[in-house]
Amino acid sequence: MFSSGNITEKLRIASFNCSGETVVDLYAGIGYLTLHYLVHAGASFVHACEQNPHAVNALRRNLELNGAAQRCQVHQGDNRQLSLCDVADRVNLGLIPSSEEGWPTACRLLKRETGGVLHIHQYVSSHPQKPNPALLLQNLCLQEVSDPSSPAWKATRESDTADSRESAPGLDRRAVKADWQAWSKAAACRIAALLLEIQGQPWRTHILHIEHVKAYAPHVDHIVLDLDCRPICVVMGTCLYVLETKVDISN
Ligand SMILES: C[S@@+](CC[C@H](N)C(=O)[O-])C[C@H]1O[C@@H](n2cnc3c(N)ncnc32)[C@H](O)[C@@H]1O
Repeated sequence: MFSSGNITEKLRIASFNCSGETVVDLYAGIGYLTLHYLVHAGASFVHACEQNPHAVNALRRNLELNGAAQRCQVHQGDNRQLSLCDVADRVNLGLIPSSEEGWPTACRLLKRETGGVLHIHQYVSSHPQKPNPALLLQNLCLQEVSDPSSPAWKATRESDTADSRESAPGLDRRAVKADWQAWSKAAACRIAALLLEIQGQPWRTHILHIEHVKAYAPHVDHIVLDLDCRPICVVMGTCLYVLETKVDISN
């Protein structure tokens, strides 16, 4: 279960401040993320769900070794059968290529009165376009683009090579990010609809952050969507958002 490429996500969780929070890790594995919530982020309690019995054994051992077993309940089995609801300030959905099968469970787990944050892992395919020469010609003088000392030439090179983690050389990174955003917006809408259906009241979902974990394959990226989900109080036809008491995520 070790993936060195996931280290940034583990460190990111370690940097969260989850004091006072109940977290549900729906796909706990041997506890890489569960342990970071407990040991570094200071979560009050974690419910760790895992269906693989070998992983569960290792998870229990890791909790003991890290002195965190008292603050963690392990739920062995398929998390879709979990009877818990209305407990979570935060739900981690660390299943790839997609955790979509766990979205209804996550919606049921969020605290009904105050809501919480979902961390949704997903592999997203991108279809970045090579720079279109016709468009380039429209916007820039060809002579300028072919002159390495010109700002226009520099601009095209920067868009070609910016952050190789996010796009292959020669491809437009902004187009890749647009794909992540499009997926995230669709996920936010889907989850708002699920929350309405499952919780029986309207909720507002809001994209807090999209984290790039790693490039999984050419044009396929592992991202995590941090989605803030809050119930909306409807008072005489007016929508009031429940105040977000704590949003502690960088960017
Ligand atoms: C990709 S691993 C990730 C584990 C952990 N999040 C990590 O980063 O190390 C996904 C884990 O989810 C477990 N899993 C998949 N579907 C599940 C389900 N429906 N209920 C409970 N566990 C499940 C698998 O057994 C596996 O251990």
